[in-house]
Amino acid sequence: MKTYLVTGGAGFIGSNFVHYMLRKHKDIHIINVDKLTYAGNLENLKDIEKNPNYTFVKADICDKEAVEALFQKYDVDYVVNFAAESHVDRSIREPELFAKTNVLGTVTLLNAAKNAWETENGFKEGKKYLQVSTDEVYGSLGKEGYFMETTPLDPHSPYSSSKASADLMVKAYYDTYKMPLNITRCSNNYGPYQFPEKLIPLIINNCVNKKPLPIYGDGMNIRDWLYVDDHCKAIDMVLEKGTIGQVYNVGGHNERNNIYIVKTIISFIHDNIDATVDETLIKYVEDRKGHDRRYGIDPQKIKTDLGWYPETTFEMGIIKTIKWYLQNKEWMERLTSGEYENYYKNYYKM
Ligand code: NAD
Ligand code: TYD
Repeated sequence: MKTYLVTGGAGFIGSNFVHYMLRKHKDIHIINVDKLTYAGNLENLKDIEKNPNYTFVKADICDKEAVEALFQKYDVDYVVNFAAESHVDRSIREPELFAKTNVLGTVTLLNAAKNAWETENGFKEGKKYLQVSTDEVYGSLGKEGYFMETTPLDPHSPYSSSKASADLMVKAYYDTYKMPLNITRCSNNYGPYQFPEKLIPLIINNCVNKKPLPIYGDGMNIRDWLYVDDHCKAIDMVLEKGTIGQVYNVGGHNERNNIYIVKTIISFIHDNIDATVDETLIKYVEDRKGHDRRYGIDPQKIKTDLGWYPETTFEMGIIKTIKWYLQNKEWMERLTSGEYENYYKNYYKM
């Protein structure tokens, strides 16, 4: 029975990962460690909260004592570090918080894992730390080319710079101590449980509420969209088969510009739900400061070395995603109104 310490498991990708892993493996124990910031929501995990293979611990990954206590209490085999401040716009307003959580939090976690796993004869067998990073550490592409694992780091926003800094600390733990670890760098994820401040759920939520749909700049910035379960599958495979010390890029060649994404959402809602929702809701607004133009992943390494491939096409995934948010309008309302904080605090008596 492998024990996974998953941080940030109440957030978007983390909660999808917890669900994915409990569906796929019957013989694992997942300890979800989350500080429950505005982005962490235990409601995302309500259906599995009583699962005997799942434990929730409310803690901050920057809290050294709390993190060390977890490694003393549990014989952790795998650490999967999702916990982070993840929104670029917030990082532009509050860079210090991003440095603290994303860099200091990562080092605190790395160090606690190292102390628990290192012996006089090297690291214990079967242990691994996986850092969930992002393609944004590579910076921005022009019209041609893709990010490869060998592409130099060139982050621009406080968010991507904090993630790149964290990656360098992770690399240092491999180069210096030979700690068993991997880094995954994924493109933009989409799917259920994403906080409605990110493009896709924000646009769906605004369509539902007939609010303007803000498009930064000319709307021609390109992101490489990956359905969240395909990311979860990649992490599972890297944990099991990834060569120690290696970085793996994760993406499925699904590049779309922002205006295409917004028009796809409008058109589905217009045709299937509410004909009054149309492109007149689109509002071009001031561009994001330092807005990266294009991201695009070359996933050849993870495909060739580990046999990973994405299972959900963008066309299937986006419809599934829009439908999920439309079926969970109350969830979106609670999150965007701040109401859910009281909701889950009362519910979980915390
Ligand atoms: P998210 O913002 O939805 O969730 C982050 C989670 O981390 C929340 O549950 C939050 O409560 C928790 N958290 C924040 N600070 C914490 C702390 N100090 N201690 C413990 N928990 C804390 O983020 P997400 O979109 O699910 O992203 C997860 C990870 O994947 C991040 O590391 C992010 O950089 C990376 N990533 C995200 C994407 C994407 O498209 N969303 C793409 C590539 C990589
Ligand atoms: P976002 O979902 O914040 O992810 P990231 O910046 O990490 O890629 O944004 C995706 C793209 O959508 C990005 O180019 C910024 C743009 N965007 C808008 O045009 N309007 C919005 O309201 C938001 C949140 C994003």
